[in-house]
Amino acid sequence: SDRINIAIDGPAGAGKSTVARKVAEQLGYIYIDTGAMYRAVTLSALRASIEPQDSRALAALATSLDIELLPGDKGQTVLLNGEDVTDSIRSREVTLIVSLIAANETVREVLGAMQRKLAAKKGVVMDGRDIGSHVLPNAELKVFLTATVEERASRRFKEISGKQDVTLEQLAQEIADRDRLDEQREIAPLICASDALVMDSTAMTIEEVVEAIVKLSRTKL
Ligand code: C5P
Repeated sequence: SDRINIAIDGPAGAGKSTVARKVAEQLGYIYIDTGAMYRAVTLSALRASIEPQDSRALAALATSLDIELLPGDKGQTVLLNGEDVTDSIRSREVTLIVSLIAANETVREVLGAMQRKLAAKKGVVMDGRDIGSHVLPNAELKVFLTATVEERASRRFKEISGKQDVTLEQLAQEIADRDRLDEQREIAPLICASDALVMDSTAMTIEEVVEAIVKLSRTKL
């Protein structure tokens, strides 16, 4: 076939979204940031004052939302019921509770179904936590992208410095907490699929990672 699906999973802040976007660009594929979908549901729950433990309210919310991903200049524009929430889903408030919302079974079912539909025609680069292991188990190429927690926190710190009032130590703690919640949840936890290729980006540049994945993708055609 002339197009494949590429799954890029890994812990928070490993560079998945930047890498996935650039790989998609180079291959002429569609980039899908599944974390953005969980963030959109989380933003909506915050606005509706739904507690993360209120699984019935969360389930009802997830099934009622209209989430759209459009290609944009910063990678991807996210529309929540028609409203552009691309920036607001990146707030600290959302980041701090998104893993609790993402543990909800119905939320995962609804978003997982959307993700499978988006990938049905192939030619998709999808990044997340459970793409290779759960959402697209037949993806032709699976990458598990990691880096040390120190490196991931320091990258994130540089990215947001000045914009949010948070220390490097706080960020490292929050990233570690989020990973633990994502790894320990019952449904579709963060896990490296048995047939995924592990790439440790700690000492690699984004460009090196992108080039390696693009090369690999050509061997799968
Ligand atoms: O990728 P990002 O850091 O934006 O993802 C935010 C959160 O969304 C993750 O910490 C995780 O809780 C959840 N998520 C998930 N499954 C995915 C993608 C994201 O549970 N496929």
